[in-house]
Amino acid sequence: MAVLGRPFTIISLAIFLIATILTIHVSFGNTKTADILCIESEKQALLSFKKDLVDESNRLLSWAVEDDCCKWSGILCDNSTGYVRQINLGRYMGENSVLKGKLNPSLLNLKHLTHLDLSNNDFGGVQIPSFMGSFVNMRYLILKPAGFSGLVPYQLGNLSTLRRLVLRDFYRNDKGLYVDNLHWLSSLSKLEYLDMYNVNLSKASDHWSLMINMLPNLRELDFSSCQLAHIPSLSHMTVLEKLSLSGNHFGPTIPDCVYHFSGLKDLSLGSNNFKGVISSTIGNLTSVVDLDLSFNKFEGKIPTSMGNLCNLQHIDLIYNKFGGMISEAFQSVVSEFHFANLSNLKSLAASSNSVVLRVSPDWIPPPKLIDIELKSWSLGKIPDCWIKWPMLMFVKLNNNNLTGEIPTSIGSLLSLQSLHLRNAGLSGEIPLSLQNCTELITIDFGLNELVESIPRWLGISLSNLKILGFRSNKLNGQIPLEICHLTTLQVMDISHNNLSGNIPVCFNNFQAMASKIEYGFPIYYSRWYTRDSMETMFVVKKE
Ligand SMILES: *[C@@H]1O[C@H](CO)[C@@H](O)[C@H](O)[C@H]1NC(C)=O
Ligand SMILES: *[C@@H]1O[C@H](CO)[C@@H](O)[C@H](O)[C@H]1NC(C)=O
Ligand SMILES: *[C@@H]1O[C@H](CO)[C@@H](O)[C@H](O)[C@H]1NC(C)=O
Ligand SMILES: *[C@@H]1O[C@H](CO)[C@@H](O)[C@H](O)[C@H]1NC(C)=O
Ligand SMILES: *[C@@H]1O[C@H](CO)[C@@H](O)[C@H](O)[C@H]1NC(C)=O
Ligand SMILES: *[C@@H]1O[C@H](CO)[C@@H](O)[C@H](O)[C@H]1NC(C)=O
Ligand SMILES: *[C@@H]1O[C@H](CO)[C@@H](O)[C@H](O)[C@H]1NC(C)=O
Ligand SMILES: *[C@@H]1O[C@H](CO)[C@@H](O)[C@H](O)[C@H]1NC(C)=O
Repeated sequence: MAVLGRPFTIISLAIFLIATILTIHVSFGNTKTADILCIESEKQALLSFKKDLVDESNRLLSWAVEDDCCKWSGILCDNSTGYVRQINLGRYMGENSVLKGKLNPSLLNLKHLTHLDLSNNDFGGVQIPSFMGSFVNMRYLILKPAGFSGLVPYQLGNLSTLRRLVLRDFYRNDKGLYVDNLHWLSSLSKLEYLDMYNVNLSKASDHWSLMINMLPNLRELDFSSCQLAHIPSLSHMTVLEKLSLSGNHFGPTIPDCVYHFSGLKDLSLGSNNFKGVISSTIGNLTSVVDLDLSFNKFEGKIPTSMGNLCNLQHIDLIYNKFGGMISEAFQSVVSEFHFANLSNLKSLAASSNSVVLRVSPDWIPPPKLIDIELKSWSLGKIPDCWIKWPMLMFVKLNNNNLTGEIPTSIGSLLSLQSLHLRNAGLSGEIPLSLQNCTELITIDFGLNELVESIPRWLGISLSNLKILGFRSNKLNGQIPLEICHLTTLQVMDISHNNLSGNIPVCFNNFQAMASKIEYGFPIYYSRWYTRDSMETMFVVKKE
């Protein structure tokens, strides 16, 4: 070395320094990214947890192979400290591998765990272990049915950092989840999202809403199908956006407190015992987007004030007794229930009511409506105003007492996919304008008085048709050969008409089905057709 003299030493020193800096820099970069290994004690905790699980489909394979537990499937670590933050072992659509077995309390060694999701697994009907209440940093506890049953442990009330608690239960018998009381809920003051769908809360019926009142940050509450009977009072929770109380025993009137939630976007009160006329105060819920009042015994007028619900996108009123007091004319409904003002309405379901309505030609329907179901309402004439409904995709006006023809303006529904006008008292021809509706997949015009022949253009223009129902009309003439172009057709019922001539050869492709069908789907009628007897022609395409 010495022979090489000073200058070289200086250069090599410089190189050495640069190399050192580079090395430091590189290894620094490594610790920041790839090299973080999980903490050994946490890894051992996870391995103990895994040991007690039954993992038949080897979902947790990576838990054995991979050294760094932060790379294990379902595990998410804090990327600066290496602590395990999340365990996501929920099973979601497309996966069929259920985890079973026992939950080992070793999980409690994961002191920084904020997120535990065990949804859709099957822990065999055991109780939710009480140690679940001892995670000091838990924010999200998701047990969306995970096969637990029995008493929900009070200890969950110790999870004072919890933001989201989901304890759905799918056992529908005494084996299911239940609570003795809900007092423990009041400690979860940070809770934003609470879902106890189908958990039996009947023993908390007298105080559940008091406990909810202790949760000032609650945004979403799903207490559907919880065996609840009373809504004593709910305080002004200004942040509440979703309230699902469907499938309980509430009634007979919607308590005023529900109308206080001015920020509510989603309100489900379906399948309860509500009766009588809806208060016009419902118009206070101006933020509401989804409103479900189905399967109750509401009657009388739909309040005028609902016209204020300018954010409404979906309204479901099916199976009620609305209409007792609504008179003949839809005009009155238009003026009363200003549908026209509901500029965001996308779906309107109102079948099985006793409303007598007439849709007036000057009715301007909500421009964004894509789905309308007025089945079993006694509409008057089918309105010729479809030109104003550009977005409509699904129309169901079955079982009405309409009169007159299918209006030509139906041809302006360029997005229409499904048109159900079954048993609706319609007469006249199938309108030529329907050939505009090239997106149509389902047509059901059964049980009407339609005349003339099955149009030829049908087989050419409506090339997406899967279901075609003309049963029990007065159609005559021959079956047009163009029907054979409908390569996607799966079900066709043209029985009980006055058709004549030959059955096109392409029908060899079809066979009758001897089981029950309703269009889309169950088959309700069948018999193989014969040449002589097109009366019974109900055919389903062979696979
Ligand atoms: C660490 O995680 C945070 C949030 O998950 C992310 O924004 C950040 O980019 C990550 N940092 C590194 C170095 O991966
Ligand atoms: C957890 O909750 C139970 C029952 O509510 C209580 O007795 C216990 O002291 C709590 N434990 C902790 C650590 O807070
Ligand atoms: C709910 O719990 C109550 C009280 O324990 C019980 O009487 C009732 O049968 C339960 N209901 C259901 C559907 O399990
Ligand atoms: C409904 O709104 C009106 C007018 O803003 C208000 O006076 C009334 O108290 C509200 N009712 C409820 C139940 O919130
Ligand atoms: C609803 O529309 C009607 C008629 O277009 C109008 O008179 C009424 O003021 C509107 N109501 C609201 C709340 O916008
Ligand atoms: C249908 O309407 C006609 C005439 O408008 C009426 O005579 C008939 O009783 C109605 N049928 C039903 C079932 O409402
Ligand atoms: C059918 O569509 C054409 C253009 O696509 C349009 O000009 C015509 O008005 C439509 N027919 C009906 C009845 O809406
Ligand atoms: C059936 O069609 C034939 C002609 O093909 C016609 O003579 C007959 O009147 C029609 N029957 C009915 C009930 O419409």
